[in-house]
Order: sequence, then C-alpha cells, then structure tokens
Amino acid sequence: MAEVVIVPDREAAGALVAAEIASLIRRRPDAVLGLATGSTPLPVYEALPAALAGVDVSQVRGFALDEYVGLDPAHPESYRSVIRREVIDPLGLDPERIRVPDGSMNGIEHHGDDYDAAIAEAGGVDLQILGIGTDGHIGFNEPGSSFASRTRVKTLTQQTREDNARFFDSIDDVPLHTITQGLGTILEARHLVLLAFGAGKAEAVAGAVEGPVTSSLPGSAIQLHPHVTVVIDEAAAARLGGADYYRYAFAHKPEWQGL
Ligand code: GLP
Repeated sequence: MAEVVIVPDREAAGALVAAEIASLIRRRPDAVLGLATGSTPLPVYEALPAALAGVDVSQVRGFALDEYVGLDPAHPESYRSVIRREVIDPLGLDPERIRVPDGSMNGIEHHGDDYDAAIAEAGGVDLQILGIGTDGHIGFNEPGSSFASRTRVKTLTQQTREDNARFFDSIDDVPLHTITQGLGTILEARHLVLLAFGAGKAEAVAGAVEGPVTSSLPGSAIQLHPHVTVVIDEAAAARLGGADYYRYAFAHKPEWQGL
C-alpha cells in the first residue's frame, strides 16, 4: 500500500519532498521528474532551490502531467507558462529538457501518442509529483478514466472547471478540454508522490488510499503501484481510518529506506 506521511503543514511537506528530489538528482543527474501543476505542488517547488543548493541540475529532465487544450501557450495560466514560472526559471532548469503536453489544436489527435513516445524515449519518469482534485482526479483524468489510459484529450467536469476558475477571470474562460497523461502512463513512473492539503481534499484522499480501486475515483489507481508516497496535512488526513497506523509506521521507518 501507499506509504502515508502526515505532516503538520504545507511547508513540512514541501521540505520532505524537495529533499527526496534533491537526493534523486544527486544519485542521477539526468533524473526524469514528473511535474504537476495546481496549488498543491507549490510548497515543493518553493523548497527546491534550497534543497538543490550546490547540486548540478543542468541535465535534469521533466514531463508535465497535463495542459489545457486550445489555450494560448503564452496565457499566464497555460501549464506551459506555469511550469516555466514555478519550476524551470526558479530552479534554473534547461527549458529544452522540460516538456509539457502540446495543447494546440493543430494535430491534437496525435499529441498524446507523441508525448507518451517522448516519455518512453527518456526512459520513463523517475519521480512523479501528483496532486488530487476534489473529485478524485489525478492529472486531468476525471472520474471514469480507464486505468489503462494513455496521454489523450479529456473533457473537464463542471466541478473541476469551478475549482480551477480561480486561476481565470471567470469560469467561462476555463477551457473545456485538456490533454493529460493517462492513468496507465502515470502508473509507469517509478515513484509516485501524491500531495494533498486541506479539508476539501480529505474525502478524495481517503478514497484514493483506502477506498475500493475504482475508475470512479481515479486517484485510487495509486493502490496498483508498488512505490507510492502520500504526503498530506492533518486536515487532508481527517477521513483516513488508518491514520494512527500511518503515523506509527512512519515514526518507526527504517532509516535506510528513504521515502
Ligand atoms: C488540477 C490539475 C491536477 C491537480 C488538481 C488539484 O486541475 N490538473 O494536476 O492535481 O487539479 O489542483 P490543486 O492542487 O490546485 O488543488
């Protein structure tokens, strides 16, 4: 099962995951990072410059999870812009080595296959950062997504458009379609690190970690993966039946294990 780490706050989560990423890049300078967007991974990105002090990041590669379809890539809320602003520029990564799915309409029917091929060519993702939507989506794999799905175009639920309206002037500006790594694509990453904060995520987290494995809650796909770390605050952990055991297990974690 997933290792669940309950931390006091976002900053503690950011520091923990940033340390793991720094350790990965020290071991493997051309590590392939799976990058998520949304609010959740921001504490990780904020903690990374300090964690990576003195580490050569010039060879680091990365693949974003998803992108809006039909949104101008120069729009400040395109995931291409977000990854540039939150990750590439502050960390000094080589923009040529960081890819975001191509959400342009021209040839959109092929962009998913091209993206999966590029991930395979890079040797797969070493560490995939994940958030989770209030409806249980990961990437933009909305409820009902196949566990075998590959990178492809998905239609957003109204709930997700409402959740993401805060990044736009109005909900009408939130694109209807996205291109997202599939659940099958995500499950091929070697280590999944799912973060969640706040009471609004408690139900989705409980479903993902302890609920039945069902495409109705795409985050539950993590139960099929052999190496998953779930890093959450107390509020997001509130609905977990096994919280006491998770705390106990983490407190007694063998030092050699790492995350
Ligand atoms: C977004 C992203 C997901 C993200 C999720 C939660 O729309 N496509 O990758 O994990 O929904 O978002 P947030 O972290 O802002 O709560």
